[in-house]
Amino acid sequence: METQTLIDIFKEAGQGHVFRFWDELDESQKEHLLAQARQIDLPLLKKLIDQEEEALKADAYDWSSITPAPYIAHPSQGGTSQPWEEAAHLGEEALRAGRVAAFTVAGGQGTRLGYEGPKGAFPVTPIRRKPIFQVFAEKLRTAQERYGVDFHWFIMTGLENHEATIAFFKEHSFFGLEHVHFFRQGAFPAVNQSGKLILSAKHSIAMSPNGHGGALKALVESGATQTMKTLGVDIISFFQVDNPLINVIDPAFIGFHLSQNSEMSSKMVPKSSAEERVGVFCSEKDHLRIIEYSDFPESQAQEKDADGVLAFRCGNVAIHTINRDFVERLGGHDASASMPYHYAKKKVLCIDSEGNPLAPEHPNGTKFELFIFDALTFAKNPIVIETERAREFSPVKNAQGADSVQTCHDDQLRLFARWAQAAGVDVPVDESGLPPFSFEISPLFADNETTFVERFNSLDPKPEIKEGTYLE
Ligand code: UD1
Repeated sequence: METQTLIDIFKEAGQGHVFRFWDELDESQKEHLLAQARQIDLPLLKKLIDQEEEALKADAYDWSSITPAPYIAHPSQGGTSQPWEEAAHLGEEALRAGRVAAFTVAGGQGTRLGYEGPKGAFPVTPIRRKPIFQVFAEKLRTAQERYGVDFHWFIMTGLENHEATIAFFKEHSFFGLEHVHFFRQGAFPAVNQSGKLILSAKHSIAMSPNGHGGALKALVESGATQTMKTLGVDIISFFQVDNPLINVIDPAFIGFHLSQNSEMSSKMVPKSSAEERVGVFCSEKDHLRIIEYSDFPESQAQEKDADGVLAFRCGNVAIHTINRDFVERLGGHDASASMPYHYAKKKVLCIDSEGNPLAPEHPNGTKFELFIFDALTFAKNPIVIETERAREFSPVKNAQGADSVQTCHDDQLRLFARWAQAAGVDVPVDESGLPPFSFEISPLFADNETTFVERFNSLDPKPEIKEGTYLE
C-alpha cells in the first residue's frame, strides 16, 4: 500500500496523530512506523474501543445461567480406574504413532519473579538449579524413549524474548532435543483513555503481546500447523512455561481426548480455597468455559455443594490437549475475530507532545489480550479431567508468597519424597509431606512414581537419599 494512502486511512480512523513526527524521522524510522501501521487492524481496533464500556461492566456474564462444569474424576479422588487405564492405552497408541507434538506458550519476561530473562530460563530445581525449559526437555526425552518417537516441541516466544529464548536453547545445545521450533507471538496496539493509539517513541506505536490466545493465529501464520501436518501430528499437548511439575506428555489425557472425540480438552485441580487465583471451569448454556479468577464473583466462588465442598471447584491449571485442525479453524483468518478480547488497564510507556519519553505512574492505557481458554467455547465435545495437584501443578509466578520459587521448590521435594517412600526408602517428612533436606530426581531418571520405583529398586547398591542427592 502507498505510504500516503496508509497515512490517510489512519487519519480517517481518527488515528493520524501517530504520524505527527513524520517529518523528523529518518528513513529506517519511517520504515519501522509504516511496518507497525500495516500490522494494525483498524476496523477491529475501532470495534474493541466501541465495546470497551460494555466489556468492562462487572455483569458481563449472566451468572444465573452459569453452573459448575462436569469433569472426569481422577482415581485418587474417587474416580473409576478402568476408564483411565483404557484412556492411557489409547493415548499410548497415538503417541507411538507420532500423532502428538508438545507446545509451550512462553511469551513474557519473568518480571513478576524479579528476573530479567525469558521465564523458561529461570532456575527452579532444588539441587541442580535447572531452568524450567530443561525440566520440560528432560521430560520430553524420557517420553521419547518410552514411546520410541522423536517429539517435536513448539515454543511460542514473546515480542521481547524471542532472540533471547533461541540463544538460551543454542547455548544449552537444545537440552539434547533435535526438534525444537520457535515462533513469535502476535502484537496488538494499546490505546489511551480516549481510544487513541499511543506512541512509545516518535517513530514507534506502543504495541503489546496479544495474549496467549494469540497462539492460535500465530501457530497458523508461522507455519507451525503446516509443519505438524507434514509430520503427521494432529494432536497438540499445550502447557504454560511457568509450571515445572507438568506431565508434558500424558497418555491418559490424550486417550480421553480421543475417546470423547473432543477438539479441546483440559485438566483441572480442585481449588485449594475459594480465593485461589486460578480460572474456574463453568458450564454456560451447554458450553464449557473458563472464567478468570479476577472476573469470578465472590458469592459464587464461596458457594458449597451438598457435600460441603466448593461448588465451582474446577481450577484451571492451563494444561490442554488441542486438535491441530481445530487450531487451523480458529486461528485461520475468518474465525479468529470470534475469540473475545480481554481488556486490561495498564501503564504504557509513552512520549509527551515534544516526543520526550514518559513513564506513567498510573495506568494510562488499555491493552487487549486473547486467552487460549476462550477457544473451549468453540470446541466440539470439550472435556475436563481431574489431575492431582501434588503431581502436576506448582506454578512459579511470584518472587515470594503463593506460587513462588519457594512453594515450587517445596512441591518438587514433596513429590520426590513421595516417590522415594513408594520405593521403600524411609524419608522423614513433616505433616505436609515436606522432607527436612533437599534432593533431586531428574526426569531422565524417572518422570513418575511407577518408573521411579522400578528404576530405583533395580539399582544395586541403592544410593542414599540425603541432602544433596541427585539422581539422573
Ligand atoms: C493463567 C490463567 C489462569 C490459570 C493459571 C494457572 C489466563 C488468562 N489465566 O493465569 O486461568 O488458572 O494460569 O497457572 O490464562 N503468555 C504468553 N503470551 C502472553 C501472555 C501470557 O505466552 O501474551 C504465557 C506466559 O508465558 C505464561 C502463560 O501464558 O506461560 C500464563 O500467562 P499469565 O498471564 O501469567 O496467566 P496467569 O495470571 O498466570
